[in-house]
Amino acid sequence: NHDAHQTGAAQSTIGQGGDQPTSTLPVSAEPFEVLTGSSFTLTAKETTLQLDEKTKKTVWTYNGTVPGPQLRVKQGETVRVVLKNELPEPVTIHWHGLPVPNNMDGIPGVTQNAVRPNESFTYEFVANTVGTYWYHSHQKSSEQVDKGLYGSIVVEPKEPPAKPADQDFTLVLDEWLADDSMAQMHGGTGMDRSGMNHGNMGNMNHGSAPSSDQNAHSGMSGMDGQMSDAEMMPLMYTIFSVNGKTGAAIPPLSVKEGERVRIRLVNAGYLSHKLNLQGHEFQIVATDGQPINNPPLVNGQLLNIAPGERYDIEFIANHPGKWLLEEQGKNPGAKSLAVPIVYEGYADKAATPGTEDLPTVDITKYGEAAKSRFTLEQAYDITYQMDLNTEMAKGKMAFTINGKTFPDVPPLNVKKGDLVKVTMVNRSPKDVHPMHLHGHFFQVLSKNGQPVSGSPLIKDTLNILPGESFVVAFQADNPGNWMFHCHDLGHAAQGMVAEVKYA
Ligand code: C2O
Ligand code: CU
Repeated sequence: NHDAHQTGAAQSTIGQGGDQPTSTLPVSAEPFEVLTGSSFTLTAKETTLQLDEKTKKTVWTYNGTVPGPQLRVKQGETVRVVLKNELPEPVTIHWHGLPVPNNMDGIPGVTQNAVRPNESFTYEFVANTVGTYWYHSHQKSSEQVDKGLYGSIVVEPKEPPAKPADQDFTLVLDEWLADDSMAQMHGGTGMDRSGMNHGNMGNMNHGSAPSSDQNAHSGMSGMDGQMSDAEMMPLMYTIFSVNGKTGAAIPPLSVKEGERVRIRLVNAGYLSHKLNLQGHEFQIVATDGQPINNPPLVNGQLLNIAPGERYDIEFIANHPGKWLLEEQGKNPGAKSLAVPIVYEGYADKAATPGTEDLPTVDITKYGEAAKSRFTLEQAYDITYQMDLNTEMAKGKMAFTINGKTFPDVPPLNVKKGDLVKVTMVNRSPKDVHPMHLHGHFFQVLSKNGQPVSGSPLIKDTLNILPGESFVVAFQADNPGNWMFHCHDLGHAAQGMVAEVKYA
């Protein structure tokens, strides 16, 4: 029974996993359990999240914490996860980034029936690919992930790595509404941008807050063309959280001089976050779990992490003091995202937030070039273009692929073994589209016509800014029906979903 472990106090939550073995890793500052082994139970249930001293949210969780437990599994192992649903609505688990068999992908109505209240479902898959991943519900995901139904999963190598990190932290980023009555604004199956609430999002507010959907709309709706989604969302989601804590309540990461520190960053939210690591050069060692070839040191640049993406960074603790890993940028919530990094003996020192306007790392030019599996020039069996846009469709505001909304978007039809090349163009004037492919990794081949010049860039979630175009390639090696969608889950709920269908 893991009900009680919701505090930010790090070590206290570790080693209390009941029948599930917990980790002995030097993990700290994590308000969630770290579960090791290969057999787990995740119970979807409601609880209260204390974001800081004064901010409480009613949340939906796996095992009572936001994020849910971190599952630490070994490469090659068969992982079994029993999902029990104690919530009043159906839920699922999608293993974001992990190429699991199609019937384990957690897509209600496509790969399984959603798990109804008081029912359970057992997910089983072999953890084949080392890396940092996450899991979340895919039932009404624009609502359920927003409410807290997510956690991280790390696949560790069979053999311990040559240069293991001394510290291995995971930071899961998210944002929360300053005013819960705005919950109906962003996507969701129950509403559209015309301000009509179709009524099935009723328990979003748990009856406590008056619905101000109509009012909120008249002021901020993208519908009247006054404000784009990209402008509206940061004004609504102004409480940024790291592992379910915000601002001063975010516990520090404790390090010792000389240590190699790994930080696994996961973005479970709606907004991109631009992060600055004070006082240290760092390496981006993996993106979406996949290693970067010979990553150079980054100094004085920001790391942008889009919804659904993961970045593993490493630095050597060679600059004793108290520092911040902090968000920089103009989002109103930015100041609430600052993780102290505290060297032993420096806890009393104050860390000062930075204000510099720093450039952002271009991940398509990062790392040492090496032979890659796919090239722009080679022959492909299938080519597919996705024009991503923000427009009116069927009389309402929609996020479209090739002018259509799901399920009318023409599917990407493949057969097993096909080599597939996909061009994605973001034609939205302002909205950012982090595109996520289920069940496969793709290699990013070019950005705006320029070949990727760095390390072969292997991802499952690719952030595409307005006006940008990318070419990616993958091999169709995992039969089934797979989603290929924007991981701004509000955009997905409003149409921006394609399907990859195997013959
Ligand atoms: Cu994390 Cu279909 O998504
Ligand atoms: Cu989008």
